[in-house]
Amino acid sequence: MAEAKKINRYTVTAALPYANGPKHIGHLAGAYIPADVYVRFLRLLKKNVVFVCGSDEHGTAIPNQALKEGTTPREIIDKYHALIRDCLYQLGISFDVYHRTSEPIHHETSQEFFLDLHGKGLLAEETSEQYFDTQANVFLADRYIMGTCPRCGHPNAYGDQCEKCGSTLSPNELINPRSTLSGTPPVLKPTKHWYLPLQNYEPWLRDWILKSHADDWKTNVYGQCKSWIDAGLQPRAMTRDLDWGIKVPLPDTEGKVLYVWFDAPIGYVSATRALFQELSQGKRTFSTPQSDFGKVSADDWKKYWQAEDTSLIHFIGKDNIVFHCIIFPVILHASGKYILPDNVPANEFLNLEGDKMSTSRGWSIEMHDYLREFPGKEDVLRYTLLTIMPEAKDSEFTWKDYQSKNNNELVAIFGNFVNRALVLTQKYFDNKLPARGTLTEIDERLIAEVQAFPSRIAAAIEAYKFREATALLMDLARTGNKYLAETEPWKLAAKDLARVGTILNLALQVSANLAVLCEPFLPFTADKLRGMLAMKKLLWDDTGSVDLLPAGHALGVSSLLFEKIENPVIEAQIQKLMNTKAPEPTPAAKPAAPLKSEVTIDDFGKLDIRVGKVLAAEKMEKSNKLLKLTVNSGLDTRTILSGIAQHYTPEEMVGKQVVFIANLAPRKMMGLESQGMILTASDADGKVKLLQPAGEVDPGATIS
Ligand code: 2FM
Ligand code: ZN
Repeated sequence: MAEAKKINRYTVTAALPYANGPKHIGHLAGAYIPADVYVRFLRLLKKNVVFVCGSDEHGTAIPNQALKEGTTPREIIDKYHALIRDCLYQLGISFDVYHRTSEPIHHETSQEFFLDLHGKGLLAEETSEQYFDTQANVFLADRYIMGTCPRCGHPNAYGDQCEKCGSTLSPNELINPRSTLSGTPPVLKPTKHWYLPLQNYEPWLRDWILKSHADDWKTNVYGQCKSWIDAGLQPRAMTRDLDWGIKVPLPDTEGKVLYVWFDAPIGYVSATRALFQELSQGKRTFSTPQSDFGKVSADDWKKYWQAEDTSLIHFIGKDNIVFHCIIFPVILHASGKYILPDNVPANEFLNLEGDKMSTSRGWSIEMHDYLREFPGKEDVLRYTLLTIMPEAKDSEFTWKDYQSKNNNELVAIFGNFVNRALVLTQKYFDNKLPARGTLTEIDERLIAEVQAFPSRIAAAIEAYKFREATALLMDLARTGNKYLAETEPWKLAAKDLARVGTILNLALQVSANLAVLCEPFLPFTADKLRGMLAMKKLLWDDTGSVDLLPAGHALGVSSLLFEKIENPVIEAQIQKLMNTKAPEPTPAAKPAAPLKSEVTIDDFGKLDIRVGKVLAAEKMEKSNKLLKLTVNSGLDTRTILSGIAQHYTPEEMVGKQVVFIANLAPRKMMGLESQGMILTASDADGKVKLLQPAGEVDPGATIS
């Protein structure tokens, strides 16, 4: 259990998006919205917090995009940095600084980190042979090499993994490797790199994560860290052969840059550094000033990264866990000066209308499209995403659900409640807050409920349970709505105006509470509601009371907080999505896998290939590739694990005849023994089909 530490300030980061294209609502739900809710909540508690983000402008993703768009990496990052930054700010994500990793201060900071580790002898220098594409004249990253899998013979395995049998590979293991850039066989060429020996930090990581954070890190995050550590950590190269990135600050390193995952998280540090530099000089290059840091010096950034009384929290998506929980912390720890993250509340992924979100396939809702098509509805998106946030497992956005969250919750509950209270006050009390008279039991009950909400919502936010916090906020509006429905002030005006005054006073106090408490979730609504109630900005600790507004207080001009969204608007979005889904790529003639070396008939005769019948099939836990098949082999009933889960469902497999190698030495995969191998045909497009006899034969039939 982590010891409770005294916290005097917070550094909150949200993953630096790659500036290689527009970002979609899945990114918002993954990192930016939860981070923003958390930060806005801290600010309402008057905590000292800096909220840091910016563009990740290095790595192969940027030059790749430049190639696709026929332009330069510089143009790519300039274009997408501005687009992403503007969208995030327009959606109310209240960064104190949105920096970029192409800035000189970031290059300097990253190089300082590298030199510090290098100077302390903490980086292992190693020359190894790596694949080089002589036509494209570049060293090839693992994903840019394909070849035949040495384990299962799949002809299109990647240099880091075979997607058919699920094996982790290194490029040197591939049979007949080829470059995906030029299609030619790459040659091995020696190259020197600097490695972070992660294996040396295993005991420290076990202690820091597995012991100290067993109770306070999310299960998905803790579980991923544990499996990485248990699988055995390997040295990881911190440099790459590339011409786009931060130069390795050592002599004779032409053509070498820092690994993007070395420099990107350091981007949080350099962004903070830039923020305090600008603040100390009284200028900000770009940002909406969110926080009042008072008078600061350029060196104050250090407090946010090096002082033990600072709490560092990283908001990320699940694909970034290893980098933020293992690699970056090892770098911070090894530097000896930096604090470590207290928490890394990573979210899972958000799917869209039943499919994985993907910008390149057109199956996504890009932030800039949403902002253009739904002006003034920033909070509707924030609210919907908060209610479906993929906190514990992948979740799904549908346009119908978005419509329903708007119409049935924001409009029918929140908006309706506030509107009724305001309209009746205009009608009966000249738009001034009426005084309260004698309180009834139902009033007292409302007051007690209102009092409890702020701490309940706060507890949920502090536990990174943003769905629950959002539901509680809506419950507060629901409580107010129910109170009006039960007391029916609109029916009482003729006979008891004083009672109407009491009811409206309480309803408006609840509205004032909502105006403060909704700010982290719905900042635009909070501003609007505050204006309608003509109230000043209050803090979280002011809420829970029904004395936020004094009797006689003149209210502002009211309007509807939310508007209904009609069916045609939603149908148009669904249609647009269907239309823009990129057609399946037209099959280009791809070369068949190259011929393997010759074998004799005796070699072939050694294989005992038979027909079996699948009796049962199930998915393997923790593997999206493997199916566990129970096969009647004619000789026995055996378990065979097969990497076909992405091509066949367990239900489809049951009852099928399969062809398998019956005398293959048993092999352990994911903790289970596989007693054979199912034969499949795979083409260059990645299609995988079972091999089967042309008609039914008995299990155990031999193949020759
Ligand atoms: O996955 C990504 O989009 C990365 N650009 C995130 C980087 S987060 C941080 F380390 F900078
Ligand atoms: Zn394989």
